Amino acid sequence: MSAVELKSLLAGAGDEHERWARTINPQFVRVLRTIGFDRTWVRADGAYLYDDDGNRYLDLLGGFGMYNVGRNNPRIRSALVEALELETPGSVQLGVTALPGLLAEALLARTPARLERVLFTSSGTEAVEAALKLGRAATGRTRVLSAEHGFHGLTLGSLSANGNAEFTERFGPLLPGFDRVPFGDLDALERQLRTEDVALFLVEPVQGKGVHLPPPGYLEGAQELCRRYGTLFAVDEVQTGFGRTGRMFAFEHWGLEPDLVPVAKSLSGGYVPVGALLMSRAVHEAVFDSMENAFSHGSTFAPNELAMAAGLATLHELETEGLVERSARLGAELLERTRPLVDDFEVVRDVRGLGLMWAIEFGEPARSGRLSWRLIERMQPGLFAQLVVVPLFSEHHILSQVAGHRLAVLKVLPALCLGDDDLDEFVDALRSTVKAARRMPRSLTRFALTAAGIG
Ligand SMILES: Cc1ncc(COP(=O)(O)O)c(C=O)c1O
Repeated sequence: MSAVELKSLLAGAGDEHERWARTINPQFVRVLRTIGFDRTWVRADGAYLYDDDGNRYLDLLGGFGMYNVGRNNPRIRSALVEALELETPGSVQLGVTALPGLLAEALLARTPARLERVLFTSSGTEAVEAALKLGRAATGRTRVLSAEHGFHGLTLGSLSANGNAEFTERFGPLLPGFDRVPFGDLDALERQLRTEDVALFLVEPVQGKGVHLPPPGYLEGAQELCRRYGTLFAVDEVQTGFGRTGRMFAFEHWGLEPDLVPVAKSLSGGYVPVGALLMSRAVHEAVFDSMENAFSHGSTFAPNELAMAAGLATLHELETEGLVERSARLGAELLERTRPLVDDFEVVRDVRGLGLMWAIEFGEPARSGRLSWRLIERMQPGLFAQLVVVPLFSEHHILSQVAGHRLAVLKVLPALCLGDDDLDEFVDALRSTVKAARRMPRSLTRFALTAAGIG
């Protein structure tokens, strides 16, 4: 189909919410309508989304963290167009091409020497699945440990490592051999590792659900314990990778040298599904140990040539545009400018983050606003955060998210090319929205009642 036909097809497409509800997921469309997020999106650029009325929205949700280099980044697009125009061979399957090796080399050049091999996938959860399978085969052990409240994707293996009941209940039985330990508790971890039957410990360096940073010394200690008991140390960088936390990879903050590192999301600039498992040579050689076992794990579409071209362009973009440093600087500024909210509003419990992975947590105020808080939270725990997310969107045209089911936490994962003005806009809008939500006007009460009905 030519570009012109696509354009006219889109122009005559009609009501996409109605079609989505009819053909894809009606409950999702109900949610969007209830919270007033059912806009017709027509265009995007960097950290902005535009609706069909020409309104500009500041996108701080960033496609759940896949637009680190900004939406419709022109340089990533050029690389994709060039790859298409070159008519590269694509997946030969029984043959190799140049682009996957080039991206693998580029990734390994930016990670510790311990990581020497790359297995490409098409998503984050598949990269985690690869870590689980290869970790088991390489160690000859079956158990897998992960952290409570951890998130690693929604396919059955990754889900078995998930630390949140709302994702796992209804989908059991999950895989055997999976256990969880509290995030930050080295004693609990050691109690589990001591039996020397744990293949891998899978952990996010900063937990995405709620944005929880590790206590000092935790990740370094976890790595040391893993080495001591022969367990592979798997650091899930799917959300934190590619500059999100102010370093290319979050594990750099603590000088870690993991054995397994799943990555995905931003690697292809948000254009093409992609994922990868970076691993030590020892793990790889233990699994792919003979010609007979050369095909032990993989999938038809991975590595995808367009994803590889976009990946190479994304690494280049992050570096030439200084986006990793920008994430560190803007993240520090955002923290500094939002920390006073904790003193200014009783309802603000905490403000935390690393780079441009940032969250504000709300809690029951001791004095003023206590009754409203109780009323709202009784309807549905975490609902107060919606009372901030919704007006930020409808009144200030800022897209953000609640950081997890039943959590009174608002989270942002913006493009790292976010402007200084965008930061100002967000900080001002947040202050006035929290102030208003605390008083809970009647319209918001109505909203809260409706929203509770969707849960
Ligand atoms: C830490 C982490 N791991 C894995 C995943 C799963 O990635 P995907 O949605 O690409 O399957 C996510 C997704 O949010 C994530 O945040």
